[in-house]
Amino acid sequence: MEYINKKYIDEYLADLIDFPETPVMAEIRKAAEEKNYPILRPLAASLLNIMVRMKNPYSVLEIGTSIGYSGMVILGAMEAKGRLTTVDSDEDVLRLAKENFRKQGVSDRVLLICGDGRDVLHHLEDAFDMIFLDGPKAQYLLYLPDCIRLLKNNGILICDNVLFYGMVAKDSLIQKRKITIVKRLRKFLRILTEHPILDTTIIPIGDGISVSIKKGSDMM
Ligand SMILES: C[S@@+](CC[C@H](N)C(=O)[O-])C[C@H]1O[C@@H](n2cnc3c(N)ncnc32)[C@H](O)[C@@H]1O
Repeated sequence: MEYINKKYIDEYLADLIDFPETPVMAEIRKAAEEKNYPILRPLAASLLNIMVRMKNPYSVLEIGTSIGYSGMVILGAMEAKGRLTTVDSDEDVLRLAKENFRKQGVSDRVLLICGDGRDVLHHLEDAFDMIFLDGPKAQYLLYLPDCIRLLKNNGILICDNVLFYGMVAKDSLIQKRKITIVKRLRKFLRILTEHPILDTTIIPIGDGISVSIKKGSDMM
């Protein structure tokens, strides 16, 4: 399946914007391509890198660790005191992520949690400066109440793949077996964009990335 932009736009941007990877990250990308693990594309990685640098968070929560690529983007953009809590339901990918974080020398800054994202979030109590939601797309709406609860005021919620190959924006692109995901993502985006406690925008890069800020008491 194609992503959401015209091919020439993606190719032009990919050529123009160089997202520097560490050798471990390059190794992960290669392994992901070979073994079909979905990880952030370079343009989405460059956006995440910039967003994290702009926010300068101390604590980030990620749902959807996979083999650790986006976690490394986040950690690489944070100051050395920054901490990542990352959740995945798949023990096998978490084992690889753990090894990758070790190779990158950042294990002491990462808390890996194995479990269903919804259950795990429900039991977390500490608030985060930033949340990166990249788990099961059809369940984003179910994650939203806990994401909001777990975000500090002025905290940032970033959700990946919200335009889902363009299907979310255009009926004629919808593949029959994806109709449930698309319907749920549409509902999620409507609630996200209308939510009284969030200000949200959507950036049509990669597969579509939403960026929301939780309004503080001083924000209208
Ligand atoms: C798109 S991948 C994450 C990619 C990763 N963020 C990256 O860019 O390197 C989605 C991940 O969500 C995980 N996942 C799927 N369902 C889940 C659930 N219910 N709870 C937690 N994680 C889940 C999958 O195992 C998969 O590793």
